[in-house]
Amino acid sequence: MGKGKLAKFAEMETFSNVFQYPFSVIDNVPFEQKGRWRKDYFHNDNPIVLELGCGRGEYTVELAKLFPDKNFIGIDIKGARMWAGAKLALQENLSNVAFLRTNIEFIDRFFDKDEVQEIWLTFSDPQMKNVRKRLTGTAFMDRYKRFLVDNGIIHLKTDSNFLFTYTQAMVKHNQLPVKIETTDLYHDRNIDDSTKQLLSIQTYYEKMWLERGLNIKYMRFLLPQEGELTEPDVEIPLDEYRSYHRSKRSELETSK
Ligand SMILES: C[S@@+](CC[C@H](N)C(=O)[O-])C[C@H]1O[C@@H](n2cnc3c(N)ncnc32)[C@H](O)[C@@H]1O
Repeated sequence: MGKGKLAKFAEMETFSNVFQYPFSVIDNVPFEQKGRWRKDYFHNDNPIVLELGCGRGEYTVELAKLFPDKNFIGIDIKGARMWAGAKLALQENLSNVAFLRTNIEFIDRFFDKDEVQEIWLTFSDPQMKNVRKRLTGTAFMDRYKRFLVDNGIIHLKTDSNFLFTYTQAMVKHNQLPVKIETTDLYHDRNIDDSTKQLLSIQTYYEKMWLERGLNIKYMRFLLPQEGELTEPDVEIPLDEYRSYHRSKRSELETSK
């Protein structure tokens, strides 16, 4: 591990806005702040918004500045990335920001029923070969339902045609209400100004994909608590650019 990373990890231990639960030690250890984020940490009754796979937390920090009346929590397993957002939030005295370092697969252990209003998924790994690890897959939707309010909002911003097409199919198959959907948000004239402002925040990965000339896609949909979700039966062309430099490339050209 690089020296810079070690220094960041050490500094993160001192950050008052970071909670670290990286391993499955949490299996039998209840997270005491579950159901108490507003009371114990934010000290207000404002809505809670999560950014899952937040990386450096650009959305978490910038949305927190735009919406001081909402609370934001960035979640990722990579501490060195999260350090950047957590440090910035402290420097800017943003009391409506927190970061949680854990595996998102355990996410429902950290939030109680109806504790969260919105989820942002920013440039998530498309997980083309494993639907159970895909953050818009029904396995994750089932987890989100355990803590998201009824008809809570899910935002997906992505470069990935695979992830976007899959999510469109999942949403359609399960009749989830779609509020906004665009396959090229920077050239879509139908996007209203307040949405444009939200979507103008750019993450590290977004900048990288924009430089490579990819269209950025965005979808906002609602997740009702009622009803059982099932996987759509669709074959989706894989994103070819994501396979560059990979030694063990699958021969498959589509996936479910
Ligand atoms: C492609 S990066 C995007 C990061 C950031 N949102 C951005 O746009 O720059 C995906 C992020 O999701 C995180 N991630 C993926 N799966 C995860 C999981 N199961 N638990 C926690 N973090 C995860 C990775 O560590 C990584 O930082």
